[in-house]
Amino acid sequence: MVIPLSRPITTKSGKQINEVPVGKGMRMLLSIVAYNRDKTVWGEDVREFNPSRWLRQSEKMETSVGVTGDLATFAGGPRACIGWRFAVHEIQTFLIEMVANFEFAPTAACDRIRKEACSFMSPNIEGEIDKGVQLPEPASQGDFGISFPY
Ligand code: HEM
Repeated sequence: MVIPLSRPITTKSGKQINEVPVGKGMRMLLSIVAYNRDKTVWGEDVREFNPSRWLRQSEKMETSVGVTGDLATFAGGPRACIGWRFAVHEIQTFLIEMVANFEFAPTAACDRIRKEACSFMSPNIEGEIDKGVQLPEPASQGDFGISFPY
């Protein structure tokens, strides 16, 4: 079997290919984050927090994947996540409660936040991975932050 590509890619050996040959039993890993950060899909500002990008659909997308938002987050096709609607409602509920009850602002330690893959991505502080999931504590009064002690 071959998987046709929407655009040619150059392999490590320098060869241009338009399809990926798939052998029997071949294991394939598809990177969700690679698609969700693909400049050719989302544009040069792909790494910027810009929810408005979903309002200008016509400027984007030669391809469409996934079950919502043209994102690969919940995969796509017949084996896509069946809990995606639940998950999106849960995140929205969580966000509303957080925004209504806490104040958020960047702290000096924000520069040290890194993401760690543990089934899903979680925030860790550089050099403090042994402390588990956390976001920076406020450095001083008036410098708000939030931490998750679990
Ligand atoms: C932000 C939260 C979530 C994300 C990012 C997510 C993402 C995904 C992804 C990428 C897959 C495909 C995995 C693969 O093909 O290897 C998947 C499958 C699945 N998800 Fe989720 N999921 C989330 C929440 C949930 C929730 C809340 C439920 C259940 C209430 C759920 C139930 C499932 C099930 C049962 C499958 C397997 C579907 C199948 O193989 O037919 N997920 N999810």
